[in-house]
Amino acid sequence: MRISKAVATRRSVRAFLDKQVDPALIRRLIEQAGRAPSGGNLQPWHIYVVTGAPLAQLKSLMEEKIASNPKGEGSEFNIYPPELEGIYADRRYKIGEAMYNGLAIAREDRAGRRMWFNRNYRFFDAPVGLFCFIERYMGPPQWSDMGMYLQTLMLLLREEGLDSCAQECWALFHNTISTFVQAPDHHMLFCGMAIGYRDPDHAANNFPSERAALEEFATFIG
Ligand SMILES: Cc1cc2nc3c(=O)[nH]c(=O)nc-3n(C[C@H](O)[C@H](O)[C@H](O)COP(=O)(O)O)c2cc1C
Repeated sequence: MRISKAVATRRSVRAFLDKQVDPALIRRLIEQAGRAPSGGNLQPWHIYVVTGAPLAQLKSLMEEKIASNPKGEGSEFNIYPPELEGIYADRRYKIGEAMYNGLAIAREDRAGRRMWFNRNYRFFDAPVGLFCFIERYMGPPQWSDMGMYLQTLMLLLREEGLDSCAQECWALFHNTISTFVQAPDHHMLFCGMAIGYRDPDHAANNFPSERAALEEFATFIG
């Protein structure tokens, strides 16, 4: 697969086929994505991959956690800036509406939307769940390095016919996840990622996610 095709066909996939992923393949891709660049070659990402019985265990643990604490444990960082406004707030609103319209879950159906959202905490029933941590004292440049790792992985997954959804919502249950994967205290959870084979027919995988026009974000000088 050409990189351009991997980029064009990657989307956040939120419904997966009931089909296992070869563990050796996942290992290889997690390793290969480590070729991502990072400032000073720090490679600040720390990855945990959860599959099989532990994944099933985590899903039932999350059901309990959500039932007793639906809003989560509070995130250790602002997932979005509290002052988010203008085009950014607009884009966030639009993608949410596009998804829930695609799923035919009305705005007033808060319980329905919440139920769908909580599927995040089952990794949308993907066969592989991943968590990405970073050393607590790292700053914005290293967080951007984490993004490079994650996108490299998502494109490599595409090359193998696999799909993914990055999930920062897991940061809302950072205590539960850190304990579950036994991450050291000095590591902070950034996000999760669902990985598996896309269900091509599911409405969750067929709504459009728009992008800004070139002129909105790029300036060419000279
Ligand atoms: C770091 C990161 C965290 C994300 N967290 C979530 C999440 O918690 N739940 C979710 O459904 N989608 C999540 N997404 C997916 C975004 O909503 C998605 O990338 C965006 O709407 C653009 O759509 P596309 O990926 O399908 O092109 C996340 C994406 C990124 C890059």
